[in-house]
Formats: sequence, structure tokens, C-alpha cells
Amino acid sequence: MNKVNIDPNTYVYPNPVTLVGVEVEGRANFMALGWISRVNSKPPLIGIGVNRTHYTAKGIQEIKTFSINYPNAEMVEVADYCGIVSGTKVDKASLFEVFYGFLKNAPMISESTLCMECKLIETVQLPTNYFFIGEIIASYTEDKYLTDGQLDIKKMNPLLLTMPDNNYWTVGEHAGKAWIIGKKLKGNGS
Ligand SMILES: Cc1cc2nc3c(=O)[nH]c(=O)nc-3n(C[C@H](O)[C@H](O)[C@H](O)COP(=O)(O)O)c2cc1C
Repeated sequence: MNKVNIDPNTYVYPNPVTLVGVEVEGRANFMALGWISRVNSKPPLIGIGVNRTHYTAKGIQEIKTFSINYPNAEMVEVADYCGIVSGTKVDKASLFEVFYGFLKNAPMISESTLCMECKLIETVQLPTNYFFIGEIIASYTEDKYLTDGQLDIKKMNPLLLTMPDNNYWTVGEHAGKAWIIGKKLKGNGS
């Protein structure tokens, strides 16, 4: 075995870069977030890890809704900015055209390629973070990001994040069709 032992403080590699939208103290705020995962199939639940000290955490606890917004690669600067300044100090919502969906209080970003509005279902208290679990109530995109009615990653051109080297990336080449390509290794009848 020629593995090398690296720092166990390792991250999911890579993470998507998203912007969490929430209303805090009566106004919209957006925070950069990489720690996100779909965590249940039906109903569609999504989990996000938010540091307890963030203004966003206060908002989600109070209003019990939030949104997830995907910036594209051209939005890298503004996405990073939303991850280095706090809504306690600056109005980050003024950077975007903000819209609302069914929930009426989960602010979303018009410039995003994909937006999801979520209702808070459960909060898991962890030592430094809250793990907020939200149900996706509705998702929004535009025709220009779809191919045959489905989201097209090349058209969306999302940002990826690697940690702890802290770099942004774009998506590379298509490697195969999921749940299909492995069938080549199945024996007859298996
Ligand atoms: C690319 C990127 C990803 C981030 N991901 C997370 C994350 O997953 N969870 C978290 O708590 N903070 C994350 N942060 C840090 C927050 O976005 C940052 O502290 C932000 O200023 C908090 O904003 P707020 O105080 O307005 O809520 C990230 C920052 C960057 C730049």
C-alpha cells in the first residue's frame, strides 16, 4: 500500500458552491455555503451545515425557511464576497435581483441558475454548527439551463469548491451515464 496519511480534518471533495438566502431582522441576506447535501428522497430534504455564529443561522432559526441558490462561474466574485462579509455589516441582498416564491419569506436570487425554496424541518445541534434540514417546496430555473426538460450542468456552469486549499473550479468532462455504465460489469441475469 502506498497511501500517505493526511490531516483527518478533510472535507467532502469537492463541494458545490451555493448561496443560502434567508430573511434576518426583516431583510434578505445571502451567505456562501459549500456544506450541503440532499439527505432524503421523499419528501425531498436537503441538509446544510451553518456555523452557529453566522447571521444566516440566526435568520433560519427565527423564520424557519431558507433558500439555496446556485451561482454560475461568472458569479465567482460576488459568491466569494457573500462568504467573506457578514450581513450584520453589509447589505448583501442589494447585489442581486431578489424574488420570492410560495413561502413568501425565503429570498431567492434571479441571477442564479437554480433556486430552491425550503421549509425548515429539523435542526441538529452540533459543536460548532447547526445542521439545518429543509424540505424543498419548489425549485426554479430557466429554459436556457435545460436540455430535454432536465437541468444541464454544462449550461448551468456551476462553481465547485475544494477545501482546505480553498479554490474554485468549474465542471470538467462527462465521464459516463450514472446507473447505466456499471451494467457492463453485470453478469447474465444479475
Ligand atoms: C466558498 C465559501 C463557502 C462557505 N461555506 C460555508 C458553509 O458551508 N458553512 C458555513 O457556516 N460557512 C461557510 N462559509 C462562510 C460564510 O459564508 C461566511 O462566514 C459569511 O460571511 C456568513 O455570512 P452571514 O454572517 O451574513 O450569515 C463559506 C465561505 C465561502 C467563501
